[in-house]
Amino acid sequence: MKAYASAAALSDLDADLVAVGLFEGDSPSEPLGSTAGAKDASGDLKSSVTVYPGKPERVVIVGLGAREEFTPERARVAGAVSQRALKAVKGEALAWVLPDAGEPGPIAAALVEGAGLAAFSFDEFRSGSDGEPAPPQLKTIEVSSAEDVAEAVRLGEAVANAGNRARYLQSLPANVATPAYLASRAEEIAAAHDAVTVEVLDREAIAAAGMGGLAAVSKGGEDVEPRLITLRYAGGGDGGTLGLVGKSVTFDTGGISIKPAASMHEMKMDMSGGAAVLEAVDAIAGLGLTIDLVAVLPSTENMPSGTALKPGDVITQLNGKTVEVTNTDAEGRLILADALVHCARQGADRIVDLATLTGAVLIGLGSTYAALISNDDELAAKVEAAGERSGELVWRLPLHEEYKELTKGEITDLVNASAQRKAGTIYAGSFLEEFTEGLPWAHLDIAGTAWDTGREYWGKGPTGFGVHLLIALARDLAA
Ligand code: BES
Ligand code: MN
Ligand code: ZN
Repeated sequence: MKAYASAAALSDLDADLVAVGLFEGDSPSEPLGSTAGAKDASGDLKSSVTVYPGKPERVVIVGLGAREEFTPERARVAGAVSQRALKAVKGEALAWVLPDAGEPGPIAAALVEGAGLAAFSFDEFRSGSDGEPAPPQLKTIEVSSAEDVAEAVRLGEAVANAGNRARYLQSLPANVATPAYLASRAEEIAAAHDAVTVEVLDREAIAAAGMGGLAAVSKGGEDVEPRLITLRYAGGGDGGTLGLVGKSVTFDTGGISIKPAASMHEMKMDMSGGAAVLEAVDAIAGLGLTIDLVAVLPSTENMPSGTALKPGDVITQLNGKTVEVTNTDAEGRLILADALVHCARQGADRIVDLATLTGAVLIGLGSTYAALISNDDELAAKVEAAGERSGELVWRLPLHEEYKELTKGEITDLVNASAQRKAGTIYAGSFLEEFTEGLPWAHLDIAGTAWDTGREYWGKGPTGFGVHLLIALARDLAA
């Protein structure tokens, strides 16, 4: 999808569908007001009515809610509504007349994002199209405004395209999106940007490096090899190096502590954190933001087999801490522990990790907020603010000595899961904190927000949650 800004008047816009907003209590301005059908238009958020004024040929009037409550998030929703109207008329080119409320830049970017994200589809595994032409896709979005919103529109385009690429990776089945596949995507990103480099470790190198968690979790998969992927972006600036870590379990059966069959297939999405990190790095490099990044993806399957990690096994993580693995389904924290230490050793000054880590976060926060756990108020505040700006909301949960107590082992430093099942999301965060090497760190548990949120611009299925938040955070740190 390409997006661009212009100053064209309504009558000069020649997209397949031109979208104009309508606030509550307003009526459509002329010449739209006198077209047949315009009287059905309302300012209700999520509503839309398509009319045919002649010039332009086709206009959708999209409800924006109350003028004084208009936000970028509402603009994202309106963008998604306009995309659905475009799809209904089998169009490929959309134009928006920028509503005159709120800040022009963020609103323009949000309209592009909402429409771009709503256009995501995944049908590469459908066969037998019976010679019918492929359905049209959203190809261009023009935003017309008297204000200069070119930069903002470029940002919206980058965010939507990166989000959709992450959603594509999430959608791929585990027999396609293997650790090696994610490594090849990382290599592709490095090849596309002069300032990005990549390093990939295989099973032997992972073990030799002392990454006992990743080595242990990957023991069950005999023919799918693990990878430890490190991407660096040298964007410069003096904001320091931001470390990013993304859980990349390409399939989580639970291992020997096997999951029930009913929705196990959904665990192909257990690499959503890694997908978001990969595509955020691509977008940040593409935007040329002045920040240095070091991104780490620990990637493996979690399989049961005769060679698999067993409940009760003791492992040694990269920083020397020992862990009794009481539940092999709590595998994410084991591979993230090594990745956090590695990220710190690679020169990160602060670290943000994204992981589909606990089912408990779905119970606690549903699909609206991701959990944020942090040892640093300043970084936590920045992550919260980036969440607000991006619509990828986070809610901070506490750390406390009493939670930490739960993670202490009987025979080891740590135990990876407690029989008590108290505060599952915080338990996992407390465990991870042991591997942050004294750095400011923020952990995002995205198990509830990575898939099936039902939000207008994401719908059912993958969301790419975190891509936009990370871009927003990097923009903040680069400023
Ligand atoms: N990948 C799962 C968490 C998850 C659950 C992601 C639902 C997406 C949707 C994680 O590896 C896991 O299995 N966590 C366990 C931890 C428990 C054994 C301590 C869980 O949450 O049940
Ligand atoms: Mn698991
Ligand atoms: Zn998992």
